[in-house]
Amino acid sequence: MQDFSSSDDSLPKRLGGKVALITGGASGIGEATARLFLRHGAKVVIADIQDNLGHSLCRNLNSDNISYVHCDVTNHNDVKTAVNAAVSRHGKLDILFSNAGIGGSLEPSIMALDPVELKSVFEVNVFGACYAAKHAAEVMIPRKRGSIVFTSSAVSVTHPGSAHAYTASKHAVVGLMKNLCVELGKHGIRVNCVSPYAVATPILTRGMGISRERAEKVFSEAGNLKGVILKEEDVAEATLFLASDESKYVSGVNLVVDGGYSVNNTASAEEAFRKFSAN
Ligand SMILES: NC(=O)c1ccc[n+]([C@@H]2O[C@H](COP(=O)([O-])OP(=O)(O)OC[C@H]3O[C@@H](n4cnc5c(N)ncnc54)[C@H](O)[C@@H]3O)[C@@H](O)[C@H]2O)c1
Repeated sequence: MQDFSSSDDSLPKRLGGKVALITGGASGIGEATARLFLRHGAKVVIADIQDNLGHSLCRNLNSDNISYVHCDVTNHNDVKTAVNAAVSRHGKLDILFSNAGIGGSLEPSIMALDPVELKSVFEVNVFGACYAAKHAAEVMIPRKRGSIVFTSSAVSVTHPGSAHAYTASKHAVVGLMKNLCVELGKHGIRVNCVSPYAVATPILTRGMGISRERAEKVFSEAGNLKGVILKEEDVAEATLFLASDESKYVSGVNLVVDGGYSVNNTASAEEAFRKFSAN
């Protein structure tokens, strides 16, 4: 992973003085975003269930401005504790990046729908986002400012053949974002989504049972924009924009980071994914 955290004082600090909470911050897109936010001057609290990864990320970054809190987003009290940890450590909360998520089964048929799994996908991806938004709003409303960014997915705007539980959960996140955009706009709080196409993080490589290299090859063949591989850092850059004051009048947007995948006819992409499944 690109090292966003090394000090380079020539770069502007786009989040100087801001405090950010990132759920699912120990791995993948959340980790890349934590590194980038830190690099841009934010004080960052990462919240996750992977305690070893979270602690070792903080140790490696070796900065007073990043810390870890154990937080299972399906647990309302854990989420409240994580928000309180950000406020008690740094005095306020400017940015919530509600990013924790699970993929569930990759099996796309409705016949394969498992009620237990459907529940667990919604508990993490939807309930977790609701809890995070509630507790962040609680501390942002009195300050009349804040930026909330949810990680949805390109599956919220197109059909890449993903499983129904996951797709439905990511649509729900966009609905939540839009509702909150209206309610919290009255309090000066912006709410947006970032929606990536496939990135070879553990959520997918573990689910597909393949290496990062192989996954990147499959995603690149199926993608619209050729010659570029979507990385966690690219999603982090889009999130940085939504979190920072550079997007101070942007709210209610589902920012799709998919190289035009959702604009294209997805039949060719589906074919590439099908070829992978058949092998
Ligand atoms: N990788 C992709 O292709 C892709 C595409 C679109 C959207 N997304 C979304 O991006 C987000 C981040 O995923 P990623 O790709 O970085 O995968 P990842 O597996 O690397 O990261 C997900 C993180 O969420 C954490 N998490 C899972 N359940 C949790 C819980 N109950 N409480 C707290 N943390 C929990 C995991 O421990 C992990 O650190 C997810 O919401 C995912 O749905 C990913």
